[in-house]
Amino acid sequence: MSAKPPILLAGNWKMNHGPKAAREFLQKLELPEKENAQARLYVPTLSLTSALAATLEHSLPLQVGAQNVHHEKSGAFTGEISGPMLSEIGINQVLIGHSERRQFFGETNESVLLKTKSALEQGFEVLLCIGELLSEREASKTEPVLREQLIRVLENQECKAHFGGRLHLAYEPVWAIGTGVVATPEQAQSAHAYVRSLLITALGQQKAQDTRILYGGSVTPTNFKELLSCPGIDGGLVGGASLKPESFRALWDLI
Ligand code: 13P
Repeated sequence: MSAKPPILLAGNWKMNHGPKAAREFLQKLELPEKENAQARLYVPTLSLTSALAATLEHSLPLQVGAQNVHHEKSGAFTGEISGPMLSEIGINQVLIGHSERRQFFGETNESVLLKTKSALEQGFEVLLCIGELLSEREASKTEPVLREQLIRVLENQECKAHFGGRLHLAYEPVWAIGTGVVATPEQAQSAHAYVRSLLITALGQQKAQDTRILYGGSVTPTNFKELLSCPGIDGGLVGGASLKPESFRALWDLI
């Protein structure tokens, strides 16, 4: 079996930090290289160019990614951005299916499949987000919900081939996002183990192990270490604590 993929620390800035703030953040960020870890930031569309330029200028070991991409390459889709547009400015990382896209912008498991398929076909690396609502957890539906969110992608031949290569996952329980209520290590570990079992069944041991499953939801420098120590948690997808260079660096230092 090949070695485990390096731990990924991914920040999701959501709708924060325009081009100027992105530049300032990266100017302040000191990020020493690590052999066993990778860092990435998903920034607002308008800040992608300045974030990329600042990353290069300061030689930061950091990937810059987009928070969304349309499944069509061009056309009458007012307000959307396409894969070719992202590629043109040098972006090859994209976040797909974040719960805020599902909750506030009507994304469904079906549209998430279309986006994932199209982004992979265009050469992007995709971090696909899944996670249950509080009501679903309370109704003991966490596992069926996670399965439902993943199954189309797992059964799609084109997507299937990319797990563990350019397709990875983030488990973000919606009740833990931006609430300060982090999942307990047991809750996170159990959800990750379930997702991993779905991957094993569909893809076999090797691809399942090569697929990173990040945890997201109220990750801070206080709880990150404990989460990372759980078997099956391959990194973090971090909102609030990725917005300041100091806290992003503090998370990096915990890996
Ligand atoms: P918080 O870290 O602010 O809870 O956000 C998590 C998240 O949604 C990352 O994608």
